[in-house]
Amino acid sequence: MKILVLHGPNLNLLGTREPGVYGQTTLPQINAGMLEARAAEADVELRIAQSNHEGVLIDTLHDARGWADAVLINPGAFTHYSYALRDAIAAVGLPTVEVHLSNVHARESFRHASVLAPVCVGQILGFGPLSYLLGLEALLRRQ
Ligand code: DQA
Repeated sequence: MKILVLHGPNLNLLGTREPGVYGQTTLPQINAGMLEARAAEADVELRIAQSNHEGVLIDTLHDARGWADAVLINPGAFTHYSYALRDAIAAVGLPTVEVHLSNVHARESFRHASVLAPVCVGQILGFGPLSYLLGLEALLRRQ
């Protein structure tokens, strides 16, 4: 199994970005310490990318058609308004799990809606970095 892990805008700043909301774990710690470690155990290949640019995220999703079996994505703020990203997920047709570090429903009202959720197989949110690991686990165990 091969999985694309996609991190959206501002997630490169994890560790120093609003630590009261997002914690102190950095993106490399999530990628290597949590996701790659679990993937190695499960004999799964991960390709991990982060971009602050909507078009790059879309291009990366398009490329995944050629090799990936599934997608794990934290779309950042694009979650709430990017119809283009939603269309890309739908177009590519790979099973996609949406994850968020924070509980977006306990935050500002503009974060309560996800325009991507309807084209994802599920959402995991509110567990900090563990959301990513639970999202990966969901893809691994999904029938
Ligand atoms: C986030 C939640 C989004 O609302 C926000 O814009 C982010 C991070 C999260 O992981 O909690 O950038 O996706």
